[in-house]
Amino acid sequence: MPGARPAGPKRPPGQATFVNKDFWKPDLSLYNNVTAFLAPGVMEDLREKLLKELADDGCVIACRFPFPNWPHRSSVGSGLDETFSYDMGTVRSHLRNVPDTPV
Ligand SMILES: C[S@@+](CC[C@H](N)C(=O)[O-])C[C@H]1O[C@@H](n2cnc3c(N)ncnc32)[C@H](O)[C@@H]1O
Repeated sequence: MPGARPAGPKRPPGQATFVNKDFWKPDLSLYNNVTAFLAPGVMEDLREKLLKELADDGCVIACRFPFPNWPHRSSVGSGLDETFSYDMGTVRSHLRNVPDTPV
């Protein structure tokens, strides 16, 4: 995972800790911010892992490849340089209104 901050009390700017790990191995509930620059084919699987493990106040940044069917809070850039941000609580609220979608 290109970047993630361990969950816990809010830290002042400049004191974030970044870890770089294989996305599939760690329990992502230990983190509250996750940044991914991966490939289109893995975004669906990663989407399910994030839904299972990340807290509602978690934030996800996806570079270039958005998560299918997730509403993003904002995006910057365009084309290959577009980056999307997601609030997990907003994503779950949205999915609860989509029939036959496990949240
Ligand atoms: C589109 S490239 C991004 C390259 C680079 N990370 C960057 O920021 O410019 C996708 C990257 O995802 C990495 N990757 C593939 N599977 C991964 C996984 N399970 N966990 C973390 N990174 C992975 C690959 O090593 C590859 O470098």
